[in-house]
Amino acid sequence: MSPPEQLIRRLQVRAPAKINPYLAVRGVRDDGYHELTTVFQSVALSDTLVLTLRPGHRQPLAEGVRPLGQSRRRMALALTHDAGPSVPTGSANLVVAAAAALAERLDLDLVILGDSEETVEADLHTTIDLHKRIPVAGGMAGGSVNAAAALVGLNELWTGELSRASLQEIGATLGSDIPFGVIGGSALATGTGTTLAGVLARGTFDWVVCTAAEELSTPEVYAAWDEHCAPGGESEPDAVLSAIASADPEALGAALHNDLQAAAEMLLPRLVGDQKALMDAGALGAIVSGSGPTLLALAADSEEAQRIAGRVAGRFAAVHLTRSPASGPVTTPV
Ligand code: C5P
Repeated sequence: MSPPEQLIRRLQVRAPAKINPYLAVRGVRDDGYHELTTVFQSVALSDTLVLTLRPGHRQPLAEGVRPLGQSRRRMALALTHDAGPSVPTGSANLVVAAAAALAERLDLDLVILGDSEETVEADLHTTIDLHKRIPVAGGMAGGSVNAAAALVGLNELWTGELSRASLQEIGATLGSDIPFGVIGGSALATGTGTTLAGVLARGTFDWVVCTAAEELSTPEVYAAWDEHCAPGGESEPDAVLSAIASADPEALGAALHNDLQAAAEMLLPRLVGDQKALMDAGALGAIVSGSGPTLLALAADSEEAQRIAGRVAGRFAAVHLTRSPASGPVTTPV
């Protein structure tokens, strides 16, 4: 049975992907997570979430039935998406996990509906329709920025009135990239990637985002780094930060740095040839995005990005043109 049609509120939230123009692995912690120094930027390439709140149809409890949990409002929640079967719709999806963590904080009794005809008695119904454009398992934090956008959007939809800092705190318990996803823009991150400092960013940069047909699992890439790599030592983000502050694409292209790249190349060796092809096609710099396998090529301007994309399109499953930095999640009533 579908939820009642009457509408309380509907919001659209844009969830921009992230890139890491700089990522250095400093070491491994006792819990297996890695200490990082990384520069994040949001890019225009985004997913979209449509959040809809409708009234439920909870029946009054029969006389004599103990009103268990009656003081808490019960919220039914369903997620749909257009990303195919590799992306879950239940609690394994970070969007649903984020909704559950936020509901807990707001003292809502959240019930997650499955894909079937399942229905429950609830005071309110929320549906989340996720439209994906960010490569899945591509190193652009697609799942994490979806979760970040869900935190920002649901906080508004449910009139939670939590600050962005509180949403970041909730997000950090679910994934290392989520706190950045809540604010977006440009940031320098340390710790496991969750301790953020704002950075000065002038101008914009044009990127060619090259998607592989394969997916790489982030934990497997970190495991390959553990086995084959060691902390880089001397590398610092200064050159990337000053290129971003001075809107200098040549300097940024030369300074791009990712310690996870060697590990990603061990799992997918053709990334080496693909990166070279991007440089040969005129990129100012090319780098594996996060844990890969998406490759990013920096272009001198948007026309040059178009030319590079045209030259390399045949090598990749998909090629997108995008720009950094973009703002964080933006909500619009629809
Ligand atoms: O935090 P998130 O869920 O995005 O991380 C996915 C996986 O990446 C973790 O399970 C961990 O294996 C690895 N990771 C790490 N060190 C980090 C961030 C992620 O080892 N700083």
